[in-house]
Amino acid sequence: MAERPAPRPAPGAPPVASSATPPVTGRGDYHASLARSRESRERRDRPAEFPLAGRDWALLDEVFPPVYSPSTGVLLDLLDFPRGGSVLEIGCGAGVIAVSAALAGCAHVVATDVNPHAVHNTALNAARHGVADRVRCRESDMFAVLAPDETFDLVFWHSNFVLAPEALAPRLSLHDRAYVDPGYRAHRAFLREAPDRVRPGGSALLGFSGRGDTESLRRLAGEAGVALTTVAAREVRERDDVVEYRLLRLSRVGPAAGGTAG
Ligand SMILES: C[S@@+](CC[C@H](N)C(=O)[O-])C[C@H]1O[C@@H](n2cnc3c(N)ncnc32)[C@H](O)[C@@H]1O
Repeated sequence: MAERPAPRPAPGAPPVASSATPPVTGRGDYHASLARSRESRERRDRPAEFPLAGRDWALLDEVFPPVYSPSTGVLLDLLDFPRGGSVLEIGCGAGVIAVSAALAGCAHVVATDVNPHAVHNTALNAARHGVADRVRCRESDMFAVLAPDETFDLVFWHSNFVLAPEALAPRLSLHDRAYVDPGYRAHRAFLREAPDRVRPGGSALLGFSGRGDTESLRRLAGEAGVALTTVAAREVRERDDVVEYRLLRLSRVGPAAGGTAG
């Protein structure tokens, strides 16, 4: 794995001091997450460009804006990229992580998202930063677009970690789907397939949060025959909350209990 860059403060949200801080936020409230989605989509001051990790990035309207949440910057800090190796980023959004992987020296990056605007946004940022030849951008629900035998040194998803009721799915915009996962359907699919998309010696990592439902995630991981290990974590103050962001490693420990990913 590549050298880790020096830690940076999360954008707009300084790391939390160890004393006199509010408790870490527990289970997510999907109403609050949808409110955050809608507010950040509608804000008049939503930029068409934003700075992060020392670079400027284009931002399209329907795409997750790393500018109003520290999650993208924190997870980027926590990740080690396999220099000279290959990366699959599921849910690439504006492309900060996929493009940063290529800029860090990864030879081959595949960036996918179920949101076509995000795929276009990532392609724009790959071209802007001169790595379009190494970042392949594809619209895809999870792994659907990949060849059956395609594997990578790193498989990563900064997920829409807040659990929402399954019945909400038809009413969500593409922007909302960056914030909440109805019935954890996308998480189930990631848990089942990500470990098998990894080359020997590589990693499948999930960027998760204290706003997610860890209990349900662990149960689904068990059903998928996958063990979850926290490999890095950071707490960040966000408005009145303290939110923990985590990198969880997925390791196959058994077969998935029957049925499909849904
Ligand atoms: C929290 S955003 C992260 C965006 C970007 N990677 C970042 O770090 O800024 C989650 C992303 O996952 C994508 N996503 C949600 N469900 C998906 C699915 N079933 N397949 C692929 N991508 C999905 C969303 O469209 C969104 O872009």
